[in-house]
Amino acid sequence: MKIFLDTADLGEIRRAAEANLIDGITTNPSLVAKVAGKRDPKEIYLEICRAVNGPVSLEVVGVDKDTMVAEGRKLAAIHENAVVKVPLTEAGLKACRALVAEGMRVNVTLCFSVSQALLAAKAGASYISPFVGRIDDTSGEGMHLIHQIRQVYDNYGFATEILAASLRHPVHVVESMMMGADCCTLPPNVLWQLTKHPLTDRGLETFLKDWETLGARI
Ligand code: E4P
Repeated sequence: MKIFLDTADLGEIRRAAEANLIDGITTNPSLVAKVAGKRDPKEIYLEICRAVNGPVSLEVVGVDKDTMVAEGRKLAAIHENAVVKVPLTEAGLKACRALVAEGMRVNVTLCFSVSQALLAAKAGASYISPFVGRIDDTSGEGMHLIHQIRQVYDNYGFATEILAASLRHPVHVVESMMMGADCCTLPPNVLWQLTKHPLTDRGLETFLKDWETLGARI
């Protein structure tokens, strides 16, 4: 199970990369807008790609196939870690197929149904990104979609990796693992939450207090 960080915040990316906790990064236009200010997003993308040793999803913003392909080429040229992210639309699927034919890796995003996931796999996507939290937000069962995609991909032997996205809390991460997702992408706060348990804190406090009674050093 690969863990990606879902952010464009370089401080958080460096903190997680230094701890060797992440296998890659996913970004989207909203995440970039949060941190870019007046900076050129392409500079930020390059810094992110240099900060991690793994795939970094960079999203196109064109809506027609030719624009997506042109943007995808530029994004892929930023760094060898770049993976082109395209939306799951008719144009996005066409762009996916064209970019894959040119040797690029593609993450198809904004997936909300198993039939969409099937089409992305047939278009040669390296990753499919089902948005679990946004389905939950509309009273749906986001995790059920991960389960269905796993089954369909296994039934037909698709190599596309299931990248559980829009995860909002640690239980989403655990459930993604149980459903057989290949990767999950987490906002930084969820990654840090995964390291914590109140019994760990309490246990450590006791160990240290008991050790102090020895007055010894290691
Ligand atoms: C995935 O690639 C997206 O960037 C992200 O997971 C969306 O999450 P949100 O629904 O919390 O915005």
